[in-house]
Amino acid sequence: MQLLQDSFGRKFPYIRMSITDVCNFKCGYCLPNGYQVDKSDNRKFLHLDEIKRLAKCFSELGVCKIRITGGEPTVRKDFFDIVKVLKFESGIKKVVITTNGYHLDQKAKQLVDSGLNGINISIDSLDRETFKNITNHDRLPEILQGIKNLQDLGFENIKINGVLLNGVNASEKDFNKWSEFIKNNKIDYRYIELMRTGDNLDYFNKYHVSSKVFKDYLNKNKWIYQTLGKDAGPSLNYINPDYKGKFGIIAPYSKDFCKSCNRLRITSRGDLRLCLFGNTGISIRHLLQKDEQLEELKDLILKQMRFKKESHYLELGETGLTKNLSTTGG
Ligand code: 5AD
Ligand code: SF4
Repeated sequence: MQLLQDSFGRKFPYIRMSITDVCNFKCGYCLPNGYQVDKSDNRKFLHLDEIKRLAKCFSELGVCKIRITGGEPTVRKDFFDIVKVLKFESGIKKVVITTNGYHLDQKAKQLVDSGLNGINISIDSLDRETFKNITNHDRLPEILQGIKNLQDLGFENIKINGVLLNGVNASEKDFNKWSEFIKNNKIDYRYIELMRTGDNLDYFNKYHVSSKVFKDYLNKNKWIYQTLGKDAGPSLNYINPDYKGKFGIIAPYSKDFCKSCNRLRITSRGDLRLCLFGNTGISIRHLLQKDEQLEELKDLILKQMRFKKESHYLELGETGLTKNLSTTGG
């Protein structure tokens, strides 16, 4: 039963849960100087038992899928314990992660064995040099090897996301490379339009480009827009009978983007965020301390639903609370 619903009729079967802000990459649009400890906030990241209570609560509210995000979620020492608890002790049916793919070649087996239902990997470019320039890490080969290892182990649900950056990875040549990659690979590649955050204004002005450039490419190359169900989330998907993989576009600045919002967010320190860019965030951590608080916690979350706004108003230049996306996992 789906209990989480807002005043605009949207339902929330999906939670994105950040388990750490720490990230080992330095992507230009997110953490160009690497992760910095926030001295104004000495709260620890959610503990395993708090995560378990939270997931159980959401499961009882009708949530069936949790995405574990970061920062980089796999840097947590108890990462696999978290997956195990979510997957087998919380009632949540689908547990997926978003990762930067660090050491993916070595972790592939453990990831598959953990029972994860899906993996989203961030790769902005298939060109090694460009990848290195964006993330400050020369790790494209190990990530691609990791993907191969996952596939060799029979893991199916792999998606790759890249942030579309003008003059960096947004040319026809770049699109062709991905197109070749997904031709015989059952992997979906999705371009996300660069979002403006509190920290990245100059970067945004320099590199933001509308996803129209990619949309035009798809239309020109006979990709077919696939209409999905009402609860499918905000990605626009394109299929092509000659390709095993699909393409997708996530365009947060587009009109109607928020209409298909189907997710809520939890920050690594236990705040409930109703929108990635909303200024509405409250801590729910005080209700994660004892099993007996479950009903009270459910009540608080349900009451918050009426504060979810219709849209993010990003187009007006509002960035909400979000300094960069490492706290909320994109
Ligand atoms: N705009 C768009 N996408 C972003 N990500 C991080 N910061 C931004 C931003 N400012 C993406 C990452 C990753 C996901 C977690 O969020 O590249 O794919
Ligand atoms: Fe790390 Fe992801 Fe931010 Fe890159 S975008 S710095 S991988 S959190």
